[in-house]
Amino acid sequence: MKVLAINGSARKNGNTDILLKTVLEELERVGIDSEIISLADKDIDSCKACFTCVGKNNCTFNKDVFHEIFNKMKEADGIILGSPVYSANISSKLQALLERASVVADMNPGIFTHKIGVSVVASRRGGALNTVDTINHFFLNHEMFVVGSTYWNMGYGKLPGDVNEDKEALENMKNLGKNMAYLLEKINN
Ligand SMILES: Cc1cc2nc3c(=O)[nH]c(=O)nc-3n(C[C@H](O)[C@H](O)[C@H](O)COP(=O)(O)O)c2cc1C
Repeated sequence: MKVLAINGSARKNGNTDILLKTVLEELERVGIDSEIISLADKDIDSCKACFTCVGKNNCTFNKDVFHEIFNKMKEADGIILGSPVYSANISSKLQALLERASVVADMNPGIFTHKIGVSVVASRRGGALNTVDTINHFFLNHEMFVVGSTYWNMGYGKLPGDVNEDKEALENMKNLGKNMAYLLEKINN
């Protein structure tokens, strides 16, 4: 089993990364492999609305890192999408990735069917729940199973590392990792 975590932050080692790693530690504890991809140093074009991906299982624009990331999403049993709140929603890097992933999956149904989806959000003050919802819309629109925890999957902090002070968020992320592992094992064994 393999879980792919994507960090949509412009900061590679910021609060979103801390929250993601807290979830992944629980997966690793029970032997589930994982990988984090940071979008911080990657440029991803937005969807060009050409709809030439019908029957192709990938985007036909292949001059950026989209193909590499999308192939990893297709191979993973579970996908964790992490984002800081930017202007009360997901980052534009994650938005560009999800625009294209959504259109390819819409034109080629079944790509994400029965995979497990988890949202993780870092926020300074406002817009976290909206950001969680945006990520979950991607999962729910592509026949994925969304995992929850005991609170919504968000942590509060402004500067890198601040989220370590949000003890409730860290506990929530640990529990989220345990729940994700539980569902992965039920589905794949
Ligand atoms: C461009 C930009 C927009 C932001 N907009 C919001 C916002 O609308 N609401 C909020 O609570 N925090 C906002 N923030 C703060 C980040 O969400 C917060 O600092 C978060 O912890 C960053 O996570 P990171 O360290 O993983 O990048 C914004 C930060 C940036 C850089």
